[in-house]
Amino acid sequence: MTALRRTRIALDPDAAPFAIRAERASDVVAREALLDACFGENRHLRTCQRLRDGRAPAEGLALSAVRQGRLQGRLVGTLRLWHVSAGGVRALMLGPLAVDPSCRELGVGAALMRHALAAAKARGHGAVVLLGDAPYYARFGFSGLKTGELSLPGPFERDRLLGLELREGALDGAWGMIAPAGAPVSPTKARRAKVLRSVLHAA
Ligand SMILES: CC(C)(COP(=O)(O)OP(=O)(O)OC[C@H]1O[C@@H](n2cnc3c(N)ncnc32)[C@H](O)[C@@H]1OP(=O)(O)O)[C@@H](O)C(=O)NCCC(=O)NCCS
Repeated sequence: MTALRRTRIALDPDAAPFAIRAERASDVVAREALLDACFGENRHLRTCQRLRDGRAPAEGLALSAVRQGRLQGRLVGTLRLWHVSAGGVRALMLGPLAVDPSCRELGVGAALMRHALAAAKARGHGAVVLLGDAPYYARFGFSGLKTGELSLPGPFERDRLLGLELREGALDGAWGMIAPAGAPVSPTKARRAKVLRSVLHAA
């Protein structure tokens, strides 16, 4: 605990031990391992995964948090956003968000969220939806106010389906199924990702 407290104090903008940057192809092994550690190897069976399968994340909205200083470059957090149609309304689906257990409660998750939402707004996106813990995401403005008429292609807990309007009224009239709307990844990339997953899980 002592070490964590010391690091928290070091989260001064001039001496921040973490940086947020665009995800790189070389992050893939560390990212997959982090997601396995946070959500389990069965994470690919989750309902939200149906919105990501075979799709590329939204342009400029796949982010990594990396250590600075002595462990410079080590990936400690990941966040991606995906194009969806939220009952006919264009939106982004946020997730997964994960932070390495050794770096939690230091503001890394919040930094990823704030960076991603600002970038999404700057790129002209109007709304973001997600499936997650309301007590965590409420601090970024997410609520269930405009998602009550939306559903997902599989089982989900209604009170975890949350939305945020980056442009006022962007989720007005959102009704029906949330469906994937992102660009498909090339068959070669999809095959590579499948092979990588099987190698990582066999290790
Ligand atoms: C959720 C997660 C991303 C938060 O990352 P983090 O870097 O520790 O978060 P931050 O440091 O920005 O924020 C910490 C704050 O969030 C709160 N918090 C963390 N997870 C929470 C949750 N599930 N529900 C409510 N509050 C939560 C902490 O209590 C802390 O509160 P405080 O600021 O009042 O002290 C991280 O715990 C994680 O990776 N969890 C496992 C994967 C996961 O659950 N992802 C989210 C999917 S819903």
